[in-house]
Amino acid sequence: MNLELQRKLFSIVRKPAKYKEHPSIILPDALKPIEIERLFFSENTYHVLELGCGWGEFALEWINRFPEHEYIAMEVKADRIKKILKKIDKKNIKNLKIIPINFQWFFEEIMPENSFDFVIINFPDPWPKRRHWKHRLIQKPFLEVLYRILRNHGMVYIATDYGPYARKILSLFRKSPLYLPVVPWPNYLRKRPAIFPESKFEVITSKTNQPYYTLWKKV
Ligand SMILES: C[S@@+](CC[C@H](N)C(=O)[O-])C[C@H]1O[C@@H](n2cnc3c(N)ncnc32)[C@H](O)[C@@H]1O
Repeated sequence: MNLELQRKLFSIVRKPAKYKEHPSIILPDALKPIEIERLFFSENTYHVLELGCGWGEFALEWINRFPEHEYIAMEVKADRIKKILKKIDKKNIKNLKIIPINFQWFFEEIMPENSFDFVIINFPDPWPKRRHWKHRLIQKPFLEVLYRILRNHGMVYIATDYGPYARKILSLFRKSPLYLPVVPWPNYLRKRPAIFPESKFEVITSKTNQPYYTLWKKV
């Protein structure tokens, strides 16, 4: 994406809105990595990033299970973000913060390197039509970006209910020299490991589909 377009999109992100003033919202100030102190209270905590957190059920249950972790969730839809903020207020949660922006726009530019221990991607939009594949989140360059933002021994967890996307994701990770599988061959599970919460989308889709779950660690 050219710089001019990125700047335009960045001004959309910076457009004032009441919910963006919430203390749990992190808005980048510029097209450069967000300062680590704005993301986390401590360098020494376990740092989790979720992309496309939807209504936040997974995130909220995660910090309920692992209250010592610090969790950053990215989501683009304002109504979903506002719902999460209400729950954050109700439960007085401090260790869940939200970056309310489209991660397709300038993810690489704003994410600080070597910062996350665990990246979660629950049911990314599958874009089934070939002409839309370019919109898919998980592509080869994205694996490289993830690698850079992960800390040593960092891991990536992905769930999808769409078989062709699952096969593509597995093929990308298997071919990549940057990751090793955490799950033995064929590197996916058809049942969610119990340690992970269930997401809202998963509850809906699991009634008719059996999702794929995969887990990879940084080399
Ligand atoms: C299929 S839903 C899954 C929601 C949630 N992960 C779950 O499993 O319940 C995909 C989510 O990703 C968000 N999303 C999709 N593309 C995005 C983007 N480019 N930037 C930020 N969020 C995005 C959507 O708004 C939506 O909430």
